Amino acid sequence: MTVLDLWLTRSLPMCLLLQSLVLMALCFHPASMCPKGCTCLHGNGLNVTCSNAHLKEIPLDLPPDTSLLRLDHNQVTTIPDQVFKELRMLRELNLSHNAIRTLGENAFRGVESTLLTLDLSHNKISTVHKNVFALLKARVNMGNNPWHCDCTLQQVLKGMTYNHESASRVLCKSSELQDQEGRPFLTIDADLCNLPKRTTDYAMLVTMFGWFTMVISYVVYYVRQNQEDARRHLEYLKSLPSKQKKQDEGDDVSTVV
Ligand SMILES: *[C@@H]1O[C@H](CO)[C@@H](O)[C@H](O)[C@H]1NC(C)=O
Repeated sequence: MTVLDLWLTRSLPMCLLLQSLVLMALCFHPASMCPKGCTCLHGNGLNVTCSNAHLKEIPLDLPPDTSLLRLDHNQVTTIPDQVFKELRMLRELNLSHNAIRTLGENAFRGVESTLLTLDLSHNKISTVHKNVFALLKARVNMGNNPWHCDCTLQQVLKGMTYNHESASRVLCKSSELQDQEGRPFLTIDADLCNLPKRTTDYAMLVTMFGWFTMVISYVVYYVRQNQEDARRHLEYLKSLPSKQKKQDEGDDVSTVV
């Protein structure tokens, strides 16, 4: 057997194994693959449709050139910080009809300048961080969520004044103000950010007044009591016969002797 024969018999299986590995790596290369449950179509940019895919979270292997992303009708509960960061061309994002309760403060970090449409309707969002949409240029649909109308939400909507339509769809499921439940947020005139402050100020004032009254009454009582005591003491001293003192001293002397 020559050296060449030996080399061939030893390395042929290795070659085959290597070849199949390369093929497998090519087949499962993430860039060329669409996330599980989604379809990817090139049209006006890359359209990735993952509607009705029983997804419980946002897929992490989304193609970086995605421009339209449909994630509606899934069971996503949370949008983590920076989850779309790599999608530099994302223009439209549909997250409607999910079970989203929480959005990270930086959920839309990285797509602020490209995103034009964001659909968050038909979810379970009651509150968001006040800066979550701050830098977004997108038209945001926030309708059909159980919003809690408070100072934070007022700040969020104030930061979106250019997007009047977003606010008009926000109905208060619960509210800081008693009679606002079920009403559109826009009909609330009150400044919700000053309400709780005023209440605490008032409570503080009442408490301070209470303490002040207690301290004053105590001082008055103390002074009066002392005056009475002093008067009584003085009267007692006056009433003492002056001779008794000398007699006492005499008694002391006799005991010593
Ligand atoms: C998002 O998807 C829902 C359900 O398919 C659809 O009704 C809605 O119009 C979509 N939103 C946008 C902004 O296209």
